[in-house]
Amino acid sequence: MDLFRLKSLLFLLFFIGRCRGKVILPEGPLDAVVGKSVTITTLLDKPQYVFIIWNYSDGTDQIHVATVSPTTLKVNAPYEGRVSLNATNGYLTLNSVKTEDSGDYSINVISADGDTKTAEIKLRVLEPVSDVVIKSNLTEAIEHNSTVVLTCSAKGSFLTFTWTNGTAPIVADGKRLTLKNEQTSSTLTIAGVLRSDLVGPICCTAANTLEKEKSAPFNLTVYYGPDEVTIKPPNPPQYIESDSNFNLTCSAPSSPPATYTWYHNKEPMEAAGEVLTLKIIKEHGFGKNVDEYTCRANNAKTKRTIPSPGVSFGVMEPITGAKITGPVATLIAGNSTANLSCQVTTGTVRTRVWLKDGKPLSANSRLVFADDLSSIMINPLQKEDNGVYQCQLNNPVTSIEASYKMVVNYGPEPATVTGESEVELDAKVTLTCSAVSIPPANFTWKFNGTMTAVKTSQYVIDKAVYSNSGTYTCEAHNAVTGKTSKPVTHTLAVKEEIEDGLSDGAIAGIVIGVLLALALAIGLIIYCRQKVPVESPY
Ligand SMILES: *[C@@H]1O[C@H](CO)[C@@H](O)[C@H](O)[C@H]1NC(C)=O
Ligand SMILES: *[C@@H]1O[C@H](CO)[C@@H](O)[C@H](O)[C@H]1NC(C)=O
Ligand SMILES: *[C@@H]1O[C@H](CO)[C@@H](O)[C@H](O)[C@H]1NC(C)=O
Ligand SMILES: *[C@@H]1O[C@H](CO)[C@@H](O)[C@H](O)[C@H]1NC(C)=O
Ligand SMILES: *[C@@H]1O[C@H](CO)[C@@H](O)[C@H](O)[C@H]1NC(C)=O
Ligand SMILES: *[C@@H]1O[C@H](CO)[C@@H](O)[C@H](O)[C@H]1NC(C)=O
Ligand SMILES: *[C@@H]1O[C@H](CO)[C@@H](O)[C@H](O)[C@H]1NC(C)=O
Ligand SMILES: *[C@@H]1O[C@H](CO)[C@@H](O)[C@H](O)[C@H]1NC(C)=O
Ligand SMILES: *[C@@H]1O[C@H](CO)[C@@H](O)[C@H](O)[C@H]1NC(C)=O
Ligand SMILES: *[C@@H]1O[C@H](CO)[C@@H](O)[C@H](O)[C@H]1NC(C)=O
Ligand SMILES: *[C@@H]1O[C@H](CO)[C@@H](O)[C@H](O)[C@H]1NC(C)=O
Repeated sequence: MDLFRLKSLLFLLFFIGRCRGKVILPEGPLDAVVGKSVTITTLLDKPQYVFIIWNYSDGTDQIHVATVSPTTLKVNAPYEGRVSLNATNGYLTLNSVKTEDSGDYSINVISADGDTKTAEIKLRVLEPVSDVVIKSNLTEAIEHNSTVVLTCSAKGSFLTFTWTNGTAPIVADGKRLTLKNEQTSSTLTIAGVLRSDLVGPICCTAANTLEKEKSAPFNLTVYYGPDEVTIKPPNPPQYIESDSNFNLTCSAPSSPPATYTWYHNKEPMEAAGEVLTLKIIKEHGFGKNVDEYTCRANNAKTKRTIPSPGVSFGVMEPITGAKITGPVATLIAGNSTANLSCQVTTGTVRTRVWLKDGKPLSANSRLVFADDLSSIMINPLQKEDNGVYQCQLNNPVTSIEASYKMVVNYGPEPATVTGESEVELDAKVTLTCSAVSIPPANFTWKFNGTMTAVKTSQYVIDKAVYSNSGTYTCEAHNAVTGKTSKPVTHTLAVKEEIEDGLSDGAIAGIVIGVLLALALAIGLIIYCRQKVPVESPY
């Protein structure tokens, strides 16, 4: 305290002394770096002088440095070769500055009239800033657990340290981050280090008033995780098709990457790795039931193991090779029985639905379903049983259908004949006989009771003649059922020809008519002539 006061007093006195004359040196201290050069500038403005003398004092002895006159320069031996003094303005330049050059430099400006101006300035020679390095007391860190102590050390004098995180300066928060500065080092302590703390990049800068140097970016691996462990797909269907390439995939943010192990109903499986394939599940003999699967992620460095949520599913074989088998024999309505059986090659069938022509089939007096719905029996078959039978098969992973076309032969049903009844000569006549029948019926035609050669459903007469008039009889015959319809008859009349022009009778009629009309007209005229005088007033 006393010493400080004394210094202050001396400093004050020094200023009072200085104030008398003109100030000729700037205020110090002046800093220079070892090895570099420094120029001590003056505030002289075109001085008129005889000599300018620079002296150096290390605190005890005065040493002459150099003297210049407007014409000559004299450098003291120890400074020879590394000092220059500018005769115009009195600037003193020291090259290759050494630590020992630190001290007070005084200038004396002696004028021709004997007036002497004196001033002094302190020069500080600074060690250059170098070897700025960040070291960690750990080579690897565990997130949340590790306290990382980073030490930034540097060579140099009067050093100040700053830390940067990317471009932002790191500010101690006194809790997780603390900073402690010493003369040639600074320590940054990060408690409970986070993965994001050191990605910065973190750099340290050491500086003195003249120089600064930045460290190489620091990196330290902070191991973390596994964090939230997820399993994909998170909600698989209740049943997985056994021949699909279904996989469960486990993942978790982790450094180093986590290793995964799998569990079936909470019991460890001999399965490791991110992916659990359906193949492995089946190899373990699992999948017959709907079971729960989980994975656990482990980080070898953080020694943490985290389980995933569970997913549940079973494995089911798809239904394949669905087929309806039915009777191979020819079926005849009223006399045949059909068993339709719906079979599959593989897979477990959960539900079966029978349809006929797209509509659900139901039991009736002739149709019976097997207890397991695997077959149906129709006895006896009737014509309405013709159609396409479908069997729909389902299980949770498949939905397939098989179909069967059933042909029940029947008929012919009563036949009908359509066609003209009365035609003119030369007209075309088509008589059509029809009878519902499976397979289609064969027909025979009789004319006036005599068998004709026509065996088709249509009896065609290209140009009718009188002799085509008569009775046509059609019979339908089903070769499979062996049945023949009742004969149906149709009568055709071919009308007599009407001649072109007027007949003799018509001509005679017309002649008589004309004569009658003529006679009537003459009569009327005579009658009118006789009556006219009666109506006259004269
Ligand atoms: C400069 O130093 C020399 C000794 O080297 C000394 O004789 C002289 O008096 C000094 N001059 C001043 C102005 O202090
Ligand atoms: C000395 O200083 C003057 C004025 O500042 C300058 O013009 C001159 O070049 C300097 N001389 C040397 C030798 O540096
Ligand atoms: C690093 O420093 C922290 C905090 O001082 C300490 O807990 C830890 O043990 C140190 N680690 C090593 C390897 O010295
Ligand atoms: C560095 O910055 C990141 C964000 O940019 C921050 O999360 C992290 O905590 C910072 N690290 C330090 C040591 O301040
Ligand atoms: C740290 O950085 C250096 C150079 O940038 C690189 O070679 C090294 O692999 C890094 N180390 C880590 C642990 O990231
Ligand atoms: C499941 O994993 C196997 C083997 O890793 C791969 O070949 C297959 O493509 C994966 N399936 C799906 C759906 O990702
Ligand atoms: C991290 O800290 C927890 C408790 O704070 C401890 O149980 C765990 O073993 C530590 N992990 C490591 C790798 O040291
Ligand atoms: C039914 O079939 C039996 C034997 O196959 C046969 O004797 C009988 O005549 C048939 N009946 C009818 C209506 O087809
Ligand atoms: C149909 O199946 C039943 C029972 O399975 C059997 O008694 C019957 O003989 C079968 N009928 C035919 C036509 O195959
Ligand atoms: C019935 O007609 C078909 C062609 O429609 C023919 O193949 C079959 O032989 C005929 N049957 C008889 C008994 O005439
Ligand atoms: C067929 O019968 C009808 C009436 O029974 C008769 O008028 C007609 O002349 C007969 N036609 C032939 C060619 O026998």
